[in-house]
Amino acid sequence: PHIVALIVAAGSGSRVGGDIPKQFRVVNGRPMLAHSYATLSKHGEIGTVVVAIGDGQDGLAKDALDGLPTPVLVQGGLTRRESVHHGLEEIARQGGADFVLIHDAARPFLPESVIDDLIRALDTSAGAVPALPVVDSLSRGDDMLSETVDRSQLWRVQTPQAFHFDAILDAHRSWTGEEPTDDARMLMAKNGKVRIVPGSERLSKFTFSTDFAGNDMTPTIRSG
Ligand code: CTP
Ligand code: MG
Repeated sequence: PHIVALIVAAGSGSRVGGDIPKQFRVVNGRPMLAHSYATLSKHGEIGTVVVAIGDGQDGLAKDALDGLPTPVLVQGGLTRRESVHHGLEEIARQGGADFVLIHDAARPFLPESVIDDLIRALDTSAGAVPALPVVDSLSRGDDMLSETVDRSQLWRVQTPQAFHFDAILDAHRSWTGEEPTDDARMLMAKNGKVRIVPGSERLSKFTFSTDFAGNDMTPTIRSG
């Protein structure tokens, strides 16, 4: 199959803060975006890697990806969903694809085995996501706990999320709901089946400035 990857890197990283958006800051010796870009662009089954970036981020993106295969850059949008949609339309303009892997630049450490599992899963479903089981107790409550929630069927869903290209493009073109938290949600709204493959702690998203502590991704304890 013809497989394309799309990295969304058009956010402002407001929760991390700082002078430049988190996806261009250095972790483990290279800009965050460069990690997953390198992994995806050297994968044997993936052709093009498209990167959605924000207004005025061209220079930052080119610097971040210096020395790597030349990226296809596309203008992102005001929300993550819009950034993904812009990327998918660019892929469509370039002739489309069989499969697309949609990934957050904010998840730099991407195990190859996850990519392989996702691609294989698309043989039997229109979508596939990496996910981890919930290990903490889950409870409902206000300032006092009122109820424990059964966690046996709950998952922490990560990216990359992999899809049959035409199905996810159609889901984006016809989406009218509220801002979804991920693309799998959008495929499911069109009755597309999304298979779960094993996720990885290494795929955790950099969301807060404390996530940058201990760049080697040894698990760090976070207060918030
Ligand atoms: N993203 C994007 N376009 C947007 C918003 C987010 O491409 N308009 C991307 C981010 O660059 C990131 C991924 O979506 O790679 C996940 O989003 P998130 O972690 O929320 O990043 P930000 O939106 O940049 O951070 P914040 O919400 O703290 O401002
Ligand atoms: Mg955000």
